[in-house]
Amino acid sequence: MRQPLLDKEIFKKRRDKLKEQSSPGDVFVFFSGSAPVRSNDSNYKFRVSNDFFYLTGYEEENAVLIFRPGMKPETTVFVMPKDPVMETWEGFLYGPDMAKTEFGFDQTYTVSKFEENAVALLTEGERVYYRMGLSDSDDKKILGILNKVLRKKGRKGHPFQTLLDPAVYLAEMRRIKDEQEIKIMQESGDIAARAHIELMKAVKPGMNERELAGLFIYQIMKQGASAEAYNSIVATGNNATTLHYVFNDCECKSGDLVLVDAGAEYKYMASDITRCFPVSGKFSQPQKDMYNEVLKVQKDMVDLVKPGASFKELTEKANTALTESLMNLGFFKGSSKDEVLEKQTFKKYYPHGLGHYLGLDVHDIGYYEKNNEPKPFEEGVVLTIEPGLYVPENDESAPKEFKGIGIRIEDDVLVTNSGNKILTSLVPKEVSEIESLN
Ligand code: GLY
Ligand code: MN
Ligand code: MN
Repeated sequence: MRQPLLDKEIFKKRRDKLKEQSSPGDVFVFFSGSAPVRSNDSNYKFRVSNDFFYLTGYEEENAVLIFRPGMKPETTVFVMPKDPVMETWEGFLYGPDMAKTEFGFDQTYTVSKFEENAVALLTEGERVYYRMGLSDSDDKKILGILNKVLRKKGRKGHPFQTLLDPAVYLAEMRRIKDEQEIKIMQESGDIAARAHIELMKAVKPGMNERELAGLFIYQIMKQGASAEAYNSIVATGNNATTLHYVFNDCECKSGDLVLVDAGAEYKYMASDITRCFPVSGKFSQPQKDMYNEVLKVQKDMVDLVKPGASFKELTEKANTALTESLMNLGFFKGSSKDEVLEKQTFKKYYPHGLGHYLGLDVHDIGYYEKNNEPKPFEEGVVLTIEPGLYVPENDESAPKEFKGIGIRIEDDVLVTNSGNKILTSLVPKEVSEIESLN
């Protein structure tokens, strides 16, 4: 028998927290999802949807949670049946009985009973929280169920039940990590950091980017991660100037840098690290100059992460600092700093944001602003800080020694009560430390 990944009490506590915030009549519906087709009759590996996992701990596909805070039964989960034939082919399934005992749900059914039971369960509520737009077939099921609910209640004057996005509660719940989540995120950060170090040691001229990508997967899985947190970016030379380069199929050449943006998924928590290092062990002077400009900004921005700071504040500071970096390197000759900032011409070389929330999703949910006010960082928030500069080799206006260089430096940062803690500090980022590894 498989074991639940985490203690069921963790998920009960989360459902209780959602209950505390919800209003009488709220009913929540979450689907675990199903694996998309990869080709013909083989699918991509299944990975459970985050909100469903966050509230249940259940990892199987085709399951559904109906959570009705304060009603009886409160937690109903529909799961795949215990099926010996299916299990012979695909492996262990909990089935409804074991799902109930092992995960502590109030009521369980096989998923074939979802639609008929959902009508009764939703009829007793007043409004439904369900995220539309993730799956056409799940959307259709929900709309079909709500039509049946309307037919039952409509004669008594009830309107079609309001559909709301559960993110109104979950975005904030998931934005603030508790002690147990932080512990897992630290482990995820450590795992990815150690893997990055192995890549720095292993790289040599003639290696293909995909060898490094494969080594990263090997290194994180060896340490217990289930997968990459997202498709790794392993980009040598000019490829590093493509922000989300994932072809990973070019040869690493002596004299070039490699940019590796790769993270681990450990117990469903993502890490997200970017480092740049030289293929042949030593940075050239222009590579070093550009790298050190980005590194300075990265360290300064990390230092500013604390309760009360915000993405808006840090983004503005990073825009100014990277504009200064570019000017120090000889870009924008003949323009003033104010002009570059006002016209946002720096965006040609720094086209992305400074960072994002991190958690179950690599770009985790959570408000960045609310009511037109920046959302301040709070203790328990985890975010990335990832400034970069990218100069494509065919750029016409850049100083020629920087053409074909792309630099991004990215760490994962926890907001603490007095400041911050870098969760990915195991992996070096000073030039001398990186050079000493290869
Ligand atoms: N790896 C994607 C990102 O850094 O946002
Ligand atoms: Mn990132
Ligand atoms: Mn990244």
